[in-house]
Amino acid sequence: MIIAIGCDHGGIALKDTVISAVNDKGYQYIDFGTYDNASVDYPDYAEKVAKAILEGKADKGILLCGTGIGISIAANKFRGIRCAHVTDKFSARMCVEHNNANIIALGARITTSEDAYDIIAKYLSSVFDPTSGRHVARIEKITSIENQTLKN
Ligand code: RB5
Repeated sequence: MIIAIGCDHGGIALKDTVISAVNDKGYQYIDFGTYDNASVDYPDYAEKVAKAILEGKADKGILLCGTGIGISIAANKFRGIRCAHVTDKFSARMCVEHNNANIIALGARITTSEDAYDIIAKYLSSVFDPTSGRHVARIEKITSIENQTLKN
């Protein structure tokens, strides 16, 4: 399993925690930046991580910004990306089991490092059941909405 990691300056305070949680799970990661506190634009990092997943270079993604909101909105503009903005462990599990989220987004200005570690560990250990009819059907409806948007 390869995890794509991306953040802006507002999220960088949680990056070491993300890397620790991914390492502890025994997964590899690709760090798409940013790498320091200089101000950058979160959509650029959402794009790098979303494309890594859609191009098959990574299996899942973890995005960070100040709140997790902007970077999740940007990631969700990519067809095939289901990015969940998560602030608790229950949602970290549900976004995989029910929504097959391929990215989670956290906010370094709202989530502590301890909570972030637990949220990421839960996200990485959760599994989507592809034989679950109702969840698959609902995700297919999301795909259908994406395709409608493209035609408009
Ligand atoms: C950057 O100041 C901040 O706006 C960004 O990290 C994020 O919180 C946006 O949603």
